[in-house]
Amino acid sequence: MANSVNNGKPPLELSLREFAKEAKHLMWTRTPNVADILQQAGRKDGALSPDSVWLLSWWIKREMAHQMMDNTHTQASLASYDAVIWYFNCPLLWGIRRDQIQQLYDDCLQQSKLHAEVGARTGFFLKNLQSTSELQEITLLAKNPTCLDVCEENLHMSLNSKFKIERQVMDVLKSPPPELHGKFDSVGCNYFLHCLHGGRKIILLAVKHCAALLKPETGTFHNRMALSLLVKYTV
Ligand SMILES: C[S@@+](CC[C@H](N)C(=O)[O-])C[C@H]1O[C@@H](n2cnc3c(N)ncnc32)[C@H](O)[C@@H]1O
Repeated sequence: MANSVNNGKPPLELSLREFAKEAKHLMWTRTPNVADILQQAGRKDGALSPDSVWLLSWWIKREMAHQMMDNTHTQASLASYDAVIWYFNCPLLWGIRRDQIQQLYDDCLQQSKLHAEVGARTGFFLKNLQSTSELQEITLLAKNPTCLDVCEENLHMSLNSKFKIERQVMDVLKSPPPELHGKFDSVGCNYFLHCLHGGRKIILLAVKHCAALLKPETGTFHNRMALSLLVKYTV
């Protein structure tokens, strides 16, 4: 998440130690056993019977495969995205709390008037924005127009048309259209850079294009530590 203002709060950067602490949860997610994870979660709550573990596990595995194979993002695949990614993978596989990501969005957009969201899928965190006193306009940018349709509709429904929603098909590996250069107070590219295949050069090119969207005089990147580690471990 990049933002041109600091909100008078400490920058949203992670130290190497903090990042390592967060990232160690990610190691065991490479070979997930969905049924085991559901069973553990079910035991904690006492809520899941063996039958429902089996059924949920079958559905989640099918939908995960669907999300990974489906480069075209149809309405159907986008309908299950939030459930699989944000309600299952995020807390139970990756050990990441949704409310922490939401907090990043709420904090970074606090003093932003114009926000751009690159690689918007369903707009999950934008849908749930809390205090956004200054925000006037959100521009959705993605390669796939179906994502933009779904995201725009989601935002209109959940934000009650509080903000103007603009949209534009954009490939982040190409330079943004001239009218978007230096336009935005903040740019979000949540859970996005890892989707770009081709290693360090490709990620840095995408970051350069995202940075070009920010107002030049005030633009700064938060979380440079995480970005440098992502670049290191993606090559
Ligand atoms: C994992 S999803 C992003 C998740 C989303 N930001 C969220 O917070 O839920 C990746 C998105 O990036 C889009 N995408 C992939 N490659 C892209 C590219 N080169 N340029 C722009 N968008 C791209 C995909 O269509 C997809 O919507």
